[in-house]
Amino acid sequence: MMLHIPQVLTREQVRQMRAAIDAADWVDGRATAGSQGAQVKRNRQLPDISPVAIAQGQVILQALAANPVFFAAALPSRTAPPLFNRYAGGETYGLHVDGSVRRVPGAPGWLRTDVSSTLFLCDPEDYDGGELVVVDAYGTHEVKLPAGDLIVYPATSLHRVEPVTRGERVCSFFWSQSMVRDDARRAMLFEMDQAIQQLRARLGETPETVTLTGHYHNLLRLWAEV
Ligand code: NI
Repeated sequence: MMLHIPQVLTREQVRQMRAAIDAADWVDGRATAGSQGAQVKRNRQLPDISPVAIAQGQVILQALAANPVFFAAALPSRTAPPLFNRYAGGETYGLHVDGSVRRVPGAPGWLRTDVSSTLFLCDPEDYDGGELVVVDAYGTHEVKLPAGDLIVYPATSLHRVEPVTRGERVCSFFWSQSMVRDDARRAMLFEMDQAIQQLRARLGETPETVTLTGHYHNLLRLWAEV
């Protein structure tokens, strides 16, 4: 399931974040790619140990924690510290798949990447190209969103970033391990959750919404790994 979540950050939060990260030291993005990704990756990133990246990543994690739609869609058990990338002058990231498991700096063990997220920190009119292209069983999807908006998509998908031919594309990206690792199950739970909320808004609490809410939680209990 791909989901566009608008205004995860406010315009003012984006402005402050850009001021902080634009002034930081950027490095070759191949530092965080696996061997397949490194062959097709041409961009710049903030190092994951950069104090600016860590501080601004916290701002994003706090915004996600306050966003009920992100929670319902990703059902995150934990989210890796957000990273930041930028593309200009023809930079691109060719077709690749994200690594299935990652080390998280300062934390024990591994994080399984179930859900990928890209948070746009620039507006579509700031640059040409730079579309995030996600290829899944239903076709090819192009994504280019306003600053502050988030796209959530399955980490199992193949995807690429088209060359940026004018201006600069600046984004944050990160992975979540989900309580429900299977994308189809997560999508069903999300649609059920949203439909129950719409029914409740239209009809108020009824015996049927209580029953459906019970089924939502019983399915989550059946499928969740916590
Ligand atoms: Ni990727």
